[in-house]
Amino acid sequence: MTTPPRNIQRHDGEVSRQAREQLLGQRGAVLWFTGLSGSGKSTVARAVEARLHAEGRLVYVLDGDNIRHGLCADLGFSPADRTENIRRIGHVAALLVDAGAIVLTAFISPYRSDREQVRKVLGEDFLEIHVDASVEVCEKRDPKGLYKKARAGQIPEFTGISAPYEPPEHPALRLTTGGQSLAESVQAVHELLRQRGLLAPPTVSGQ
Ligand SMILES: Nc1ncnc2c1ncn2[C@@H]1O[C@H](COP(=O)(O)OP(=O)(O)O)[C@@H](O)[C@H]1O
Ligand SMILES: [Mg+2]
Repeated sequence: MTTPPRNIQRHDGEVSRQAREQLLGQRGAVLWFTGLSGSGKSTVARAVEARLHAEGRLVYVLDGDNIRHGLCADLGFSPADRTENIRRIGHVAALLVDAGAIVLTAFISPYRSDREQVRKVLGEDFLEIHVDASVEVCEKRDPKGLYKKARAGQIPEFTGISAPYEPPEHPALRLTTGGQSLAESVQAVHELLRQRGLLAPPTVSGQ
């Protein structure tokens, strides 16, 4: 299939990503939280956000439900719509990374291939974090009552019940929230950021 020319060209200004990162004293990156509904993606992401913000970092959370109200309001939960949902989020995250932000995304993102597509867009700026709690643990928590509805057949294609979840094979980090505390998860994510040098400005060549 050939795509017709659209006369679109990238326009890069004089201010580079690196210059923005210097200004902020940090590196742009995406922490991509993936896991079942109720595994703790939003809870951990929001707690990490609060800590980083308090430490003077530019951090931004993209969260499932908020995105589905706007940017992806036209999408449902079929496999094709889930793929398109993640594709759009990946590109929004890439723009925020270019702005120098530390971006935390909290989407079930059940398909490995969808996450790999985002990894292709973001390259080494993509850090996958598996929020690893079993269906049993998530169902017991059921913070939004969704498992109850899914078991009653009121939600078709519910991940973990009637739709698949493909766990990451080599995540940058795995958080077992069924056994570890929120504070431990936050500390582990912070440590990952520090180890990867994301909490320091980029080194400028010649320095
Ligand atoms: N160790 C933990 N880490 C994260 N969340 C936990 C933990 N223990 C219990 N919870 C609870 O589990 C629920 C997770 O819900 P949420 O963060 O909305 O999940 P998700 O965004 O993955 O759907 C919350 O009610 C949270 O308080
Ligand atoms: Mg959530």
